[in-house]
Amino acid sequence: MTDALLHGFSLSNKAEADFINIVSAKDCTLIDDQGKQYIDAMASLWLCQIGHGNSKVINAIKDQLDHLQTYNTFDPFTNTPAAEAAETIRRVSPHPEGRVFLGCSGSEAVDTALKLARMFHQRRGDPDRQIIIRRTAGYHGVNIGGTSVQGIEPNRIGWGDLLPHVLEIPNDDIEETASLFAQHGARIAAVICEPVQGAGGVIVPPDGYLSGLRRLCDQHGSLLIFDEVICGFGRTGEWFGSDTFGVKPDMLTFAKGVTSGYLPLSGVITSKELNEELTSNEAAKLMHGYTYSGHPTAAVAAIANIEVIESEGLVAEAQRIGKQMESGFKALLGDSTIESFRGIGGIWACEIGEDSIPARNEMIKNGIVCRGIGQALAFCPPLIITNNEIGIIFDTLSDVLKKR
Ligand SMILES: Cc1ncc(COP(=O)(O)O)c(C=O)c1O
Repeated sequence: MTDALLHGFSLSNKAEADFINIVSAKDCTLIDDQGKQYIDAMASLWLCQIGHGNSKVINAIKDQLDHLQTYNTFDPFTNTPAAEAAETIRRVSPHPEGRVFLGCSGSEAVDTALKLARMFHQRRGDPDRQIIIRRTAGYHGVNIGGTSVQGIEPNRIGWGDLLPHVLEIPNDDIEETASLFAQHGARIAAVICEPVQGAGGVIVPPDGYLSGLRRLCDQHGSLLIFDEVICGFGRTGEWFGSDTFGVKPDMLTFAKGVTSGYLPLSGVITSKELNEELTSNEAAKLMHGYTYSGHPTAAVAAIANIEVIESEGLVAEAQRIGKQMESGFKALLGDSTIESFRGIGGIWACEIGEDSIPARNEMIKNGIVCRGIGQALAFCPPLIITNNEIGIIFDTLSDVLKKR
């Protein structure tokens, strides 16, 4: 078998034949090239809100391909799907009067938000405000900006120098954050923060933590960026984590759930106030944009995906999933099968007290795809998962963990 494909986040010498080769998927079921079936309890990589193989989104994409597959949106061009996708996205967002910049990946969205934050302060005549505050265990993608501002150390090392002007805060301690602001506040451009940290281990913020960040940013003239690449589009039981925790950031990044991954799309939503500042100088051009910003086929995937989320009530479904998963974990905690658990809506993790990769592998062998993070197993299923499928996930988890 070919060894041409270099897999991300994988050992570089692992043989292609040793990877699980997924050939098709429908709803929450994956099928590999051996015909083995799995429940996709991770929605691929925290992304497939509407499940696999949804014909409404597939048909919207096919229809768009028949008309205009791709075109750019740099001046002087636009296309209706891109403009409508932006309108649809801002309508469901915490900033319905904001503006939406489009890209392809979460990493692009994060780098865009970091640049916009710095641009905001530069344009306001405050060029020394360049510090970005990251949080321990935060994940913000793998571009040079996202690598620099993520709080997962192993991902930051081995690349040489990263971005300067980055400081780290603990992910749960607002007092320590207040001291850092007291020291550096006048030079802090922005804080970047996932409402619920995903890749870092599904870490839900302590009560009052996010509003504390908002208060500190307001006091010191800094911007608050919520990285909603995982939390957005219903994952936490509201449209955005911002809604779930009742805190409005100045900018939100999104990706993944915006199209349920049917095609790559991401972006940044800016608040009305931020946008007014960014566009107040009419002669100032935005010297930023990707070839595929506003890609029309990806844009129709987003519009159709959001229609499915709305028509099938999937945001509320995340709350139903959350209730069932919480009671499943409570039972496992009750008989000491797990050490602890945490989560909200459709995103959960449990601590199993040892390296989770062997248990993850055993789960996969038994037909459940979950994710191992340190000593935790993470679960983030499509928002269409049935109670019966959740039951199978917990029966399998219980068997696997009790057999250790
Ligand atoms: C919160 C967050 N931000 C950014 C990213 C990067 O997204 P992408 O892998 O699409 O570049 C991810 C990916 O998991 C993420 O979870």
